[in-house]
Amino acid sequence: MVGSAIWRKLEQLGYSQLIGFSSKELDLRNQAEVLAAFQKYQPEVVIDAAARVGGILANSSYPYTFLMENLQIQNNLIHAALEMNVSQFVFLGSSCIYPKFAAQPISEDSLLTGALEPTNEWYAIAKIAGVKACEAVRKQYAKNFISLMPTNLYGPNDNFDLTTSHVLPAMIRKFHEAKLNGNKPVQLWGTGSPMREFLHVDDLADAVLFCLNKNMDTHLLNVGTGTDLPIKELALLVQKITGHEGPIEWDESKPDGTPRKLLDVSKLAELGWKASIPLEQGIQETYAWFLEHQQVYKQVKISV
Ligand SMILES: NC(=O)c1ccc[n+]([C@@H]2O[C@H](COP(=O)([O-])OP(=O)(O)OC[C@H]3O[C@@H](n4cnc5c(N)ncnc54)[C@H](OP(=O)(O)O)[C@@H]3O)[C@@H](O)[C@H]2O)c1
Repeated sequence: MVGSAIWRKLEQLGYSQLIGFSSKELDLRNQAEVLAAFQKYQPEVVIDAAARVGGILANSSYPYTFLMENLQIQNNLIHAALEMNVSQFVFLGSSCIYPKFAAQPISEDSLLTGALEPTNEWYAIAKIAGVKACEAVRKQYAKNFISLMPTNLYGPNDNFDLTTSHVLPAMIRKFHEAKLNGNKPVQLWGTGSPMREFLHVDDLADAVLFCLNKNMDTHLLNVGTGTDLPIKELALLVQKITGHEGPIEWDESKPDGTPRKLLDVSKLAELGWKASIPLEQGIQETYAWFLEHQQVYKQVKISV
């Protein structure tokens, strides 16, 4: 999702000589292959949008995979970029690097000041190592390696597989399928009370380009909208947009995750960037993308 949004943005802006690979073409867990690719293509700028990504279920079911694959991918990219003298490197992390009970909104300074949310600590620890690796490169080699920490993202190319998806695409699919099945009830995880922030992936792509074009004197920046809403309100919004007219049932036996996760985006705002896509418009566009690309769900009756 993120990689293709940045690619679209670069193309829109007229950049050429873009280099990108799928995991089948280049397995970033393989250090030798990664170094060979850097030697062959000699990139000037590297944006690391590759990761093993997933929601609460995937993270807690595959802790070793989430920890180790993310470490491998980012270590190989950061090290190859350093070896090959890449001029700019952007590491994309996630807001889950911050402590579970960090003061809200969460500032960059709260990193490593408290315990992590246990359901995704494996992923978070790998991402913290990536932030620290880029910071270490800056300190030791004075290179322009930066880390951007986006809040929850959504948009075209999101993952709608219910076993690995994040909350917003999962809701879009559940409400849509429940509507097709005669407005059956939609079951959602937790109490609905946690507060969450959502950023359209095209806004993130815009922020990445903005940061690349500034000479940052900071190694870590949050990227978000600066506003959040309760998951219950998000559910009502997705229900309205998808046109589902049945009840919503909350499964309180399932974990809620962190009670609130709103990023302090003041540093990036001071530099002159802010998000521009309103949540309702972004969800409408994402639902339209889902309908266009997930034809199978329109035809098949799936029990929810
Ligand atoms: N989604 C969010 O809500 C969110 C929020 C905050 C931060 N982020 C960050 O944004 C970045 C991208 O996330 P995303 O949502 O775009 O995830 P995504 O859609 O799952 O994309 C992940 C990408 O990583 C690639 N990849 C995974 N393992 C690889 C490997 N071994 N070798 C080569 N490529 C590999 C995948 O390639 P293939 O598809 O070819 O396998 C895919 O293109 C991640 O760093 C993530 O932490 C995401």
